[in-house]
Amino acid sequence: MEVIIIPDYQELSRRTARMIADQIHLKPGSVLGLATGSTPLGAYQELVRLHREEGLDFSKVVTFNLDEYLGLSPRHPGSYNHFMWENIFKHVNISPPNVYLPEGTVDDPEAHCSWYEAQIAKHGGIDLQLLGIGSNGHIAFNEPGSSLASRTRLKTLDQRTIKDNARFFDDAEEVPRSAITMGVGTILEARRILLIASGEAKAASCADFIEGPVSTLVTASALQLHADVVVLLDEEAAAKLERKEYYNWIRDHKSEVQKHPGA
Ligand code: GLP
Repeated sequence: MEVIIIPDYQELSRRTARMIADQIHLKPGSVLGLATGSTPLGAYQELVRLHREEGLDFSKVVTFNLDEYLGLSPRHPGSYNHFMWENIFKHVNISPPNVYLPEGTVDDPEAHCSWYEAQIAKHGGIDLQLLGIGSNGHIAFNEPGSSLASRTRLKTLDQRTIKDNARFFDDAEEVPRSAITMGVGTILEARRILLIASGEAKAASCADFIEGPVSTLVTASALQLHADVVVLLDEEAAAKLERKEYYNWIRDHKSEVQKHPGA
């Protein structure tokens, strides 16, 4: 796991967008795993800018979102479908059939989850998966206690998640109580993973998942088992890391470290 501490949210957003743009340049038909929440918003704005000003081409890109609230139609303003179209998709040249999100209003959610997994496989798997993290250490909606081998499925939301996400709804009572989410096992199959975190509300969960034990109580800790994970954190989110100085030393001496990989 490469942990990179970045001074502020703006730079974190730029770095995130640059990594996604590099992936698209490398492979124009990349399969991207995308996330919702406040944290990726800056990166999505930067990707839109790169599209408009530098011609970043999304025409062959395929995207799979992590999750969707159960019971919300794609047009509901609180749905993740709505969030993604408003904040990125409608501003770039992505082809609508290449956009995949779980659907919250399907008649048979379990069959839909299997279908979703099959679509990811059919497209050859996810090249780069973007993740945020919940204040309880969740990735996607894999709440504490989720199996680290879990696949796309229905999940009941944690009380803390409902409280955290109430800001996207008029009233906390409106937050759905369950969601369809990619599983931890699904996420771990992505070839590369980029987790981003910002702000002091994430400091405890970041210290837990980066430096604590691998545990179902902090589902992001499963990323310790993946061979290609980059974590970008701003100073506030990094505040509780024990080995902060070590990560900063590597960041500041990268050329030296690369010359002496055994160091
Ligand atoms: C939701 C999403 C997660 C996201 C988390 C953090 O719970 N299901 O994928 O990482 O929110 O969101 P924010 O970036 O708004 O803190």
